[in-house]
Amino acid sequence: MSVCVLGIETSCDETSAAVVSGEATHPQLRSLVILSQDVHRLFGGVVPEIASRQHLTGIVPTVRSAMDEAGVTWNDLDAIAVTYAPGLVGALLVGTSYAKALGLATGKPVVPVHHMEGHLFATLLEHADAAPPFTALLVSGGHTMLLDVSDWGSYRLLGQTRDDAAGEAFDKVAKLLGLPYPGGKHIEAMAASVNSPTIRFAKPMVRANAQLGDDDFYDLSFSGLKTAVLLAVRDAEKSGTLDASRPAIARGFQDALIGTLVEKVERAVRVHRRKRVVLGGGVACNVALQQAIADRLAARGVSVFAPTPRLATDNAAMIAAAGMFRYAAGTRAEASLTAHASLPIPGLES
Ligand code: KG4
Ligand code: ZN
Repeated sequence: MSVCVLGIETSCDETSAAVVSGEATHPQLRSLVILSQDVHRLFGGVVPEIASRQHLTGIVPTVRSAMDEAGVTWNDLDAIAVTYAPGLVGALLVGTSYAKALGLATGKPVVPVHHMEGHLFATLLEHADAAPPFTALLVSGGHTMLLDVSDWGSYRLLGQTRDDAAGEAFDKVAKLLGLPYPGGKHIEAMAASVNSPTIRFAKPMVRANAQLGDDDFYDLSFSGLKTAVLLAVRDAEKSGTLDASRPAIARGFQDALIGTLVEKVERAVRVHRRKRVVLGGGVACNVALQQAIADRLAARGVSVFAPTPRLATDNAAMIAAAGMFRYAAGTRAEASLTAHASLPIPGLES
C-alpha cells in the first residue's frame, strides 16, 4: 500500500519539512525544504534559545513550501511524522507542538520519529540497496554510533563515543586551527591540500589485540586526540610555525580519526558478516572517510553507501522516510507526546 507522509525536523539548528510517498520501506522523495540557521556561526556553536526562536518563525512557511513543492494538500497525507528525540528540548518542542496541532486540525495521525532512526533511513532515499541487513556508522555533531541493523526496527548498538562526537571533534579542532564553525568541511578541504602527511597522531581506541567483548572493541573516544592536536598547535605557536603547520595538523587529525572509524566499522562487518555499510550524519559527507571505508572493505566485497550532503546532515526527508516505516508498523503519537533530550532508538536490542 502506498502512503504519503509529511516529515518535520527541528531537533537542532535546521528547520526542515519534507514529503515522501511510496511503500513502507521504499520511500520516494517528493520535496525537501531545509532552513539552516546561519546565526549560530557568530557564536561558534548552536545557541539553544536562538534555535528555538528561529524554529518558531520558520516552521510554518517551511512546511507550507514542502507541501507546495510536492504538490500535495492535507487531504493527500496519510500521516505527519515528527522528530521527538533526541536533541535540544526547546527546539524539538516547536516541531512536536506544531505536528500535534496540524494533526488535530487535519485529522491525520502523528507519528513520533527518533532522530537517529531517521539518519538510518536517509541513504535509502537515494540508494534502494541501502537496506538491512547492514552495519551503520552514524557520525554527527552530537552522536557517534556504530550499529548492526539486522532489519528495519531491529538495531543493536555495538559502540559509541565515550566523550566527544566525531563532528564535535572536527568542530573543536577547526576552532583550534582558526577555521569557521562548523569546521568539518574546512578541515577536510585543508587536509586534502596535503600530499604527504608529515604530522601523525595515534589512532584513538585502537588496540591491536582487542577482543570481541572488550569494552574498547567497538567504543570510540576523541577527546584525547583533540588534546594531542591542542599540544601540537601550542608547539607550533611557540616555534612560530603555526601558519605553515595548519594543513599538516588538519591532515594528521583527520587521518587518525578516520583510521579509528575504519577499524571499528571493519570489526563490526567482520563479526556480523555484513555485506553493506550505511553511513549517516554530517561527518558522513567527508569523502576521505567514505573512501577509506570503501577501500578497506573492498576486498570483502562490501558495498558502502553514503547519502549526499543534503540528506547526510539534518533534514526532514529522513524523518518522513523513517516515519513511513513506523506508520506502517502502527506507531502513533499520544496526545501527551513531548520532546526528549535523550532516549534510546526504539527497537534497540541489547
Ligand atoms: O548531522 P549534522 O548535520 O548535525 C548534527 O546532528 O549534529 O552534523 C553536523 C556535523 C558538524 O560537526 C560538522 O562539522 C560535520 O557534521 N561535518 C563534517 C563534514 N561536513 C559536516 N565533518 C567532516 N567532514 C565533512 N565534510
Ligand atoms: Zn542529526
